[in-house]
Amino acid sequence: MTGTPSPDATPEAAAPAARVALVTGAARGIGAAIAQRLAADGHAVGVLDITADACGDTVAAITAAGGRAVALGADVADAAAVEAALSRLVDELGAPTILVNNAGIIRDNLLFKMTEDDWDAVLSVHLRGAFLVTRAVQAHMVAAGWGRIVNLSSTSALGNRGQANYAAAKAGMQGLTKTLALELGRYGVTANAIAPGFIQTDMTRQTAARIGVPFDEFVAAATREIPVGRAGTPDDIAAAAAFFCAPEAGFVSGQVLYVAGGPRA
Ligand SMILES: NC(=O)c1ccc[n+]([C@@H]2O[C@H](COP(=O)([O-])OP(=O)(O)OC[C@H]3O[C@@H](n4cnc5c(N)ncnc54)[C@H](O)[C@@H]3O)[C@@H](O)[C@H]2O)c1
Repeated sequence: MTGTPSPDATPEAAAPAARVALVTGAARGIGAAIAQRLAADGHAVGVLDITADACGDTVAAITAAGGRAVALGADVADAAAVEAALSRLVDELGAPTILVNNAGIIRDNLLFKMTEDDWDAVLSVHLRGAFLVTRAVQAHMVAAGWGRIVNLSSTSALGNRGQANYAAAKAGMQGLTKTLALELGRYGVTANAIAPGFIQTDMTRQTAARIGVPFDEFVAAATREIPVGRAGTPDDIAAAAAFFCAPEAGFVSGQVLYVAGGPRA
């Protein structure tokens, strides 16, 4: 029968399962969980953070579980450092066709107290960083005719008091994601965003410390607002990332998935 091709005939189904992934901000927290999950799914993983040394624990966890990983040091906002780290990844593990833009920082303050440095630092790591890393990595995806890009947004993209810089950056990640989906879809590349709610990591510990609340009280207060009745974990986000990176997710692109224990806009 001619006409609609069988789903089995799609390039996604024909592609080998094991690929090379690059995860930024993977020394700890959500990035570390995503790197470990992608490794468990059979991929070799470039574990990138500001210094290669910082990535040691994540790489050790992956290799101890039988996976392959390399530690890469680069500030994602530094184009030359990104290119150098990518060259190392290509040399050591091969060309990446999975990219997770996860590196992030917070510099929270109410608008009237927010400095230009607070604004520039946050926009630079999240947006300039995702732009630079994606621009570098997409060449390998286009060459392969296959790719998966996952960008970390946040429920803060919908607006959050004290986070004008971060909310703008995380809303920007959604616009970036949709544009990547439009531009790169024809090359077999999907781009999707995950918008986590409250996840227990060093980042939320930092927020609790800044406002002077013990972390367990901070988690308990956040949990009261979460319909499923618990705080999120890095593994909750890794599970969503694993779905977007899977071969069978090839028809899902330009989407924003809120992983927040309840509905968001
Ligand atoms: N924790 C949450 O509740 C939450 C909620 C929504 C979104 N997010 C997003 O998820 C991502 C991971 O957050 P997390 O909670 O694991 O934070 P985290 O602070 O524990 O980890 C962030 C990692 O990014 C790295 N990083 C920061 N700047 C970098 C740079 N310039 N170059 C390379 N690496 C850099 C840090 O060194 C760190 O290892 C971030 O993008 C964050 O905005 C987190």
